[in-house]
Amino acid sequence: MHQLLVLHGPNLNLLGSRETSIYGAGSLEELDRKLVEWGKSAGAEVTARQSNAEADLIQWIQEAPSRYDAIVLNPGAFTHTSIAIRDAIASVPTPTIEVHLSNIYAREEFRRHSYAAAVTIGQISGFGPYSYCLGIRAAIQTLKGEETE
Ligand code: DQA
Repeated sequence: MHQLLVLHGPNLNLLGSRETSIYGAGSLEELDRKLVEWGKSAGAEVTARQSNAEADLIQWIQEAPSRYDAIVLNPGAFTHTSIAIRDAIASVPTPTIEVHLSNIYAREEFRRHSYAAAVTIGQISGFGPYSYCLGIRAAIQTLKGEETE
């Protein structure tokens, strides 16, 4: 069974109360339960973590290769600011898929650039919680592709 690490960045702990017209009414706990279910039905075990601290996210990305086959990452606002997270992704062999609840290209100009995007397998943006489901599927597909290479 593939081991997937889902990382949620800053302010995603406030899902359900934060800007609900953009991010929806569901809580992070509800989302994390769905992630585990989506993983199971796709043949993967999902571990989800959230932090508001850039250092935690970097640490978890660095540690991922010893325990996880792929990372599904929503860097939150660090998407648009963090070269350090970008470098962490580039520093590990673990394939990373970038996901966003909202469509970052349909919002403010400053959200249109992602430092992470160039070092991820790909980016999924704008499908609400379903972005993570697609991210999990994309991660598994990537791993299957690696297995048949
Ligand atoms: C987000 C989009 C970011 O621009 C924002 O800072 C977030 C959430 C999303 O999931 O849509 O915190 O990553």
